[in-house]
Amino acid sequence: MKLLFAMMLAACAALAHAADPVDVQLAGTPVTRRADSLAAPLQNIYGRSHLSLNGRWSYIIDPYETGYYDYRHVPFDASSSGKGGFYDDRKPKDKGDWVEYDFDRAPTMKIPGDWNSQAEKLQLYEGTLWLRQVFEAQPVQGKRYMLYFGAVNYEAHVYLNGKKLGMHRGGFTPFQFDVTDQLVKGRNVVVVKADNTRHQDAIPTLNTDWWNYGGITRDVLLAEVPATHIADYKLQLAKGDAHRIEGYVQMAGASGPQKVTVSIPEARIQASVQTDAQGRALVSIPVNKLDLWSPEHPKLYAVTLSGAGDKVDDRIGFRTIETRGEDILLNGKRVFLRGISLHDENPLIPGRLRGSGDMRMLLQWAREMNCNYVRLAHYPHSEEMIRLADEMGLMVWAEVPVYWTISWDKPETWANAQAQLTDLIVRDKNRASVVVWSIGNETPISAPRNAFMGGLARTARALDDTRLVAAALEIHRKGKTITIEDPLSSLLDLASFNEYAGWYWASNAEMLDFKFDIRLNKPVVVTEFGADALGGYHADADTRWSEEYQDALYRNQFRMLDGIPGLRGMTPWVLVDFRSPRRTHPYFQDFWNRKGLISDDGKKKQAYFTLKRYYEDKQRQYE
Ligand code: GCU
Repeated sequence: MKLLFAMMLAACAALAHAADPVDVQLAGTPVTRRADSLAAPLQNIYGRSHLSLNGRWSYIIDPYETGYYDYRHVPFDASSSGKGGFYDDRKPKDKGDWVEYDFDRAPTMKIPGDWNSQAEKLQLYEGTLWLRQVFEAQPVQGKRYMLYFGAVNYEAHVYLNGKKLGMHRGGFTPFQFDVTDQLVKGRNVVVVKADNTRHQDAIPTLNTDWWNYGGITRDVLLAEVPATHIADYKLQLAKGDAHRIEGYVQMAGASGPQKVTVSIPEARIQASVQTDAQGRALVSIPVNKLDLWSPEHPKLYAVTLSGAGDKVDDRIGFRTIETRGEDILLNGKRVFLRGISLHDENPLIPGRLRGSGDMRMLLQWAREMNCNYVRLAHYPHSEEMIRLADEMGLMVWAEVPVYWTISWDKPETWANAQAQLTDLIVRDKNRASVVVWSIGNETPISAPRNAFMGGLARTARALDDTRLVAAALEIHRKGKTITIEDPLSSLLDLASFNEYAGWYWASNAEMLDFKFDIRLNKPVVVTEFGADALGGYHADADTRWSEEYQDALYRNQFRMLDGIPGLRGMTPWVLVDFRSPRRTHPYFQDFWNRKGLISDDGKKKQAYFTLKRYYEDKQRQYE
């Protein structure tokens, strides 16, 4: 694979996070920075000249981490010689040398792609896998080169040509290393130690209701940027003001103030700003007649930012999103969020979504059900998925995996959660489809949890005040009355909660007795309800696991939820059956969560059509 680059530039000193991260103190604990070998996340990396390192990578299964620790359990890359690890790709010098690994003779797997779905013995594997790719490069003197990973679940140690670049924790957000000084002309070798072991103090914690897909699950790119380049930018409509584009540009590697021009030819916008000594400039552009983005009209503008010899193109939609009392206003107009929840998983080709083909399939299923909104649960989905939502006209609830029983009082857990939320917002802040940043799901109330989640809410607002901030809260049942008594709700824009009347509590027949008493003067968006149904299993409406039971429950839910005066949206659980190690019923589940409205072989269940009709009515009510 040839890497041909043609521009000359000096070293860049990108900031750790272009937007000033909010060092929110959690009970006086300073936020610890991540490994500082990580380079600043480049905004719109796909808009940069890049070589894809996707393809077949060799792999070695290493359950005892023999390739990382010596027999005294000392990491090889911390030893004086730095030799001996599986990343040390040099061939043994002579017959006397003794190694017990060989990537050249190892099996290969498709990257991006989780390992669980690519080899029988890896389906339930949790531990370390080493992955290696060899590629040709012809770096041009003076350029900057970024080695970018869209996501590695869960912990990645990355080596280039035998040298450690650094490590990253977090299974769903991108990271990158500046490899300008390690890249060589000709053959280069990148080795990744990927480890999907679950940990109580991680984000997410040990226990989740989704498959623990391990490995390099998203794109790997080698991107080239001019040494003085536009590292980050934000261009969105100011909160509640459709007549002003607001944001900033952040240069990297600049030796002094630079002129940066933002041009949006179709809107006849050509605005220039002067960066300061830190390479940053605020942007505020009055606009009179923008074609606003909406699900009905997902208008994206060609935007070009240029300055100091650099240029980057993007496609950006402009819209406003806000709440007013119990209403949600999209571009100033009341809207009902006709949504559905979905995981980042393809039911038909087992494993994580691999590219725009299967992502489009899932979003098309949502569109066909008359959705204008999706909850991308419970972790950041890929940038490609969000850009598809921009293009196809689906509003997005984006979420970090602060899920269930997190270690609220551990500083490193807090730093990890804040870093993942920051990385999500930094990556997707220019995507019109994203209307909600969700800071978590069903987290049990306690003082440490309230402090932790309060810190995340402040972090989200400090990084982006143009979108709504929410979380899937838990409800409280007093007899037949359901209320929300979560103190976190006072910091959030939506009254959002999961409720499983008719499935986990009460039966279809009993559930209609429940009443909601929600007095938060905020829009109510129900983030989950649902029932398991084995696709094709038919019986009467009182027989659990049947399509008829699921369908009756949806009808009962509509009757019950329509009694909430402030109901302004919902994302029933879930678009399509998904894999979970917690779902062990040998006949009805077999490691599948069956709450999908579509079965694991792509067939629509009865409730799919019931929800579709309900949304057609809702659409008419809000026209
Ligand atoms: C929970 C949780 C989901 C889970 C669902 C279920 O509320 O948020 O991740 O899959 O309920 O029990 O099916």
